[in-house]
Amino acid sequence: TRPFQVAIDGPAASGKSTTAKMVAQRLGFDYIDTGAFYRCVTLAALSKGIDPSKPSQASQISNLAQSSQIGLKTVFSNSSSSLPTTRVFLDKKDVSSDIRTETVSKHVSAVAAIGPVREAVLQKVRDMGATSASTSQESNSGRAGLVMDGRDIGTVVLPNADLKIFLVADSRVRAERRLQELAKSGRKEEGLDLETVQKDLERRDELDRTREASPLRKADDAVELDTSHLTIEGQVDAIVQEVYRRQ
Ligand code: C5P
Repeated sequence: TRPFQVAIDGPAASGKSTTAKMVAQRLGFDYIDTGAFYRCVTLAALSKGIDPSKPSQASQISNLAQSSQIGLKTVFSNSSSSLPTTRVFLDKKDVSSDIRTETVSKHVSAVAAIGPVREAVLQKVRDMGATSASTSQESNSGRAGLVMDGRDIGTVVLPNADLKIFLVADSRVRAERRLQELAKSGRKEEGLDLETVQKDLERRDELDRTREASPLRKADDAVELDTSHLTIEGQVDAIVQEVYRRQ
């Protein structure tokens, strides 16, 4: 049997990656953060002095997406209370923090809207999914599995996923969480306030929802989970239970 696939989609800062990582840790599944791929391409473009907001740069950015080598390494912990960490590598360099700055966040949706960039990333993500499946061990729950998070996992990347989750949360709540996360990890840029973060999240969601190439959309067979009033443990539990039900 192929590994059990969990697809987690949703708007920016809805808690996808934290949830996905914790679900993977609880079940002994692999984890792939697909947003990191688009962030890497954005970082690569910015560091070459390319302005992703200029449509004329699309083909240069697509070339970068093809030629960039992107790697992920998730370190799980034995204790269920501590969060797994994912290191992200762009052309062998550890860019885990560099891809999380507000500057990269601001430009990433424009990059992710470029069709050929999505094709290049899709290929890389599928290759990584296939490799992880072939090397992964039997998990805690018996069957090997994979948790992937992003915007188009249930609709495009893993259309036959065994479980599809669509996470939503009020944009104010998401902005508060994002600001806290940035502050906690020392990545909050000076003067950045709640209003600005909320506006940026809403702008990014709008771009992600209205773009032509695989827009952010809940798959017809996805389970919607509103996390506005849930704790992270609560949402992880809900998903883990759903996996057990379907295995
Ligand atoms: O999840 P994260 O915030 O890191 O994703 C960054 C951006 O990458 C999103 O705002 C979206 O534009 C893009 N993305 C995407 N498809 C995915 C994952 C991310 O378009 N599967």
